[in-house]
Amino acid sequence: MTRCSMLLAALLVSTSGSAIAEGAFNSANDAIAYRQHAFGLIKENFGDMYAMVKGKKEMDADAFQRRAQHLALLSQIPFEAFKVPGSNQGDTEALASVWSDSAKFAQIAKEFQDASANLAKVSTNGDAKAIKQAFGATGKACKSCHDQFKQD
Ligand code: HEC
Repeated sequence: MTRCSMLLAALLVSTSGSAIAEGAFNSANDAIAYRQHAFGLIKENFGDMYAMVKGKKEMDADAFQRRAQHLALLSQIPFEAFKVPGSNQGDTEALASVWSDSAKFAQIAKEFQDASANLAKVSTNGDAKAIKQAFGATGKACKSCHDQFKQD
């Protein structure tokens, strides 16, 4: 190894080391950013399906299926980050009710996950009416939760 490549190797180790040390959930701020990023991706995938369901964009069955599969996975991601102590404060739009009414919050999160899983399933059979219905149920879960647990 040349001196230069040894230096580079040492640098990579220290960089990835610190990335791990600062990674998921070592602070309340990190947990907040994590769940917000997850919801950002949820919105991207949901929004693309919305455009197709509403006819604002041509329906592309393959793309829709992929989005629905992404959403089903993404629906599992944000919720553990609400359990991090202190993440009820700071740069968050979550209302205090997330923690004071945590059973209800968990129940709607579960409905959202079930609706997303069902949408992913239904989207593979191409029945437009069933897809629309399953998509509607998913959107209802977003709204129902935001109405009770998220600032406008
Ligand atoms: C069980 C509750 C719940 C469900 C279901 C839910 N959300 Fe949210 N969402 C929240 C909460 C709480 C926040 C605030 C997070 C924070 O700021 O810490 C949020 C934040 C967001 C944000 C803002 C992210 C940012 O960058 O700050 C978007 C966009 C969003 N949700 C979209 C959606 C969409 C679209 C759906 C449905 C497909 C959905 N959410 C389903 C509770 C929910």
